[in-house]
Amino acid sequence: VGCRRGGSPLYAALLERAARDVEAGGPAWEALRGRERDPLGSAVALRFMAAAHRLALEGRAPALAAVLPTAGGEAAPASRVWPALRDALREHLPEVRRLAARACQTNEPGRSAALLPGFLLLARRFGLPFRLLELGASAGLNLRWDRYRYEGAGAAWGDPASPVVLEGVFGAPPPPLDPPSVVVGSRRGCDPHPLDPADPEDRATLRSSVWADQAERLRTVDAALALAAGVPATVDRAGAGAWLTPERLGPRPGELTVVFHSVVLQYLGEEERRTVLARLEDAGAAATAGAPLAWLRMEPPDWRRRHAHEVWLRSWPGGEDRRLATSGPHGRLVRWVAAP
Ligand SMILES: C[S@@+](CC[C@H](N)C(=O)[O-])C[C@H]1O[C@@H](n2cnc3c(N)ncnc32)[C@H](O)[C@@H]1O
Repeated sequence: VGCRRGGSPLYAALLERAARDVEAGGPAWEALRGRERDPLGSAVALRFMAAAHRLALEGRAPALAAVLPTAGGEAAPASRVWPALRDALREHLPEVRRLAARACQTNEPGRSAALLPGFLLLARRFGLPFRLLELGASAGLNLRWDRYRYEGAGAAWGDPASPVVLEGVFGAPPPPLDPPSVVVGSRRGCDPHPLDPADPEDRATLRSSVWADQAERLRTVDAALALAAGVPATVDRAGAGAWLTPERLGPRPGELTVVFHSVVLQYLGEEERRTVLARLEDAGAAATAGAPLAWLRMEPPDWRRRHAHEVWLRSWPGGEDRRLATSGPHGRLVRWVAAP
């Protein structure tokens, strides 16, 4: 269901076949044996697909690559892709098992399109340079949101010369997209498994988690990885609860501190989630108009169900919480639902 909603009928159909193969004790079962108790939120099905996709992207499964658009192949129905996928699983079983055991690692620059209107609302409200703090930043691609170009519903924002162009991302009417430029003073994030955009292994991890019938998404990820080299950002190796300390959140006069995240909360334990919320609440109480704090997030309201993802923004002083927009799981299509 998640894949279909995310615009990948191919993955939806392949996962149905994989589920049947698991039940029948086929190669998909061999690949996933031992993972039966992995929590649903750890996205085991997507980890499995990423492992197979990687074989195709790296030229290790040519027959599979020939039917996957991201690997230079033609778009083919699941009935043709599945046999090639099954053969690749059989041939590379130990490697697929090794890759599928690793934590889910994606970084989707398209989610910046969902967050952008919230950042701009904050720029209008406070007019201060941003101090960006991202939870679950992965490779930090969304820490560079201000360097991307966004277009949709007759509106646009960002440098027209940016190599990262997110097209058709807004539903009509488009969200308010002022001011035309912003100042980002610092970019920092955390992730227990940070990825380095400059590292070939990490790049392969990220590329393989893009769905194989979404070549446009892969082009965007590639462009964002290349852009990252020229826009420094730090991603510390840490979980959100340990990283978001009162010191880090402390008021910074003359700066707007924005804590943000996208599709991360489901990976946090209950206690860690409570810690993050309590820290934000405490820091919010200490925020002032000259040293404000904001919490911007794009998350599924309940990741077990089929709701659209939602973008919410809370800011202090005041602490008002507003739902700004809904979006697809990868940030497209963003529908603005708040008053400007
Ligand atoms: C689905 S990915 C989303 C990545 C990125 N936010 C994006 O939207 O492209 C989930 C991310 O959460 C990270 N994560 C998992 N547990 C975490 C924790 N306890 N604290 C912070 N991040 C965590 C994962 O490593 C992964 O990078």
